[in-house]
Amino acid sequence: MTLPSEAEIQRVSIAKYQRRAAGYDKSCGPTWPIRTRAIAGLQLQPGEVVLDVGCGTGLSLPLLQSAVGTSGKVYGFDQSPDMLAKALHRVQTEGWSQVEVFACSAQSLTLPQKVDAFLFHYTHDILRSPTAISRLLAWAKPGARVAIAGIQYFPAWMAPLNLWVYFKNYGYNGAPGDLRSPWDRIAPYLDDFERTSTQWGMGYIAFGRVKAIPSDA
Ligand SMILES: C[S@@+](CC[C@H](N)C(=O)[O-])C[C@H]1O[C@@H](n2cnc3c(N)ncnc32)[C@H](O)[C@@H]1O
Repeated sequence: MTLPSEAEIQRVSIAKYQRRAAGYDKSCGPTWPIRTRAIAGLQLQPGEVVLDVGCGTGLSLPLLQSAVGTSGKVYGFDQSPDMLAKALHRVQTEGWSQVEVFACSAQSLTLPQKVDAFLFHYTHDILRSPTAISRLLAWAKPGARVAIAGIQYFPAWMAPLNLWVYFKNYGYNGAPGDLRSPWDRIAPYLDDFERTSTQWGMGYIAFGRVKAIPSDA
């Protein structure tokens, strides 16, 4: 079996979010406590710079902008034009001068400056892409904090439920499988990596700090 290319995964994701964008915000109600916990765990300070990875419709932007204040900066980006249009609308309507969102993929992101913190909130496809991970973490200031939250398979003793988890994830991702340890491609880049399960085991939340890259690397 040949695995789909990154380009194909991105194409499928964009098509899925074209259909999902309109109802997306309503569907996020049940995971709101996870979002607030992930953002609180970043311990953002006024004046800091934070990147909202795959920001979607911008649901995290109100919390992020209030944490860094007007002296800070929030960057967001998303490859789905339908999701990003909603984030842009939110930014313009609220008049947040310290928030900037970009239409681009994680694999091609360029930022005006390096960041103190990253939020990966339900960004499974991005976490499974080594190209995206190395591109994003290249924008980290030394020791930048990282928060990650998402869906995972239940432990083995609840395995029959994982068919349901797979199909729940299917509608949101270009590469919906690979849910056993979705964090395992980013974790090697992080110090102090800590992870806990959420939602009776079908979710996880993790924190870490971007490892220093040796200067001769
Ligand atoms: C489940 S949504 C999460 C959105 C937002 N982080 C939130 O918490 O509401 C996943 C988002 O990742 C975006 N995405 C997926 N793959 C991407 C990639 N390679 N580059 C940029 N965005 C991507 C999708 O377009 C979608 O908006």
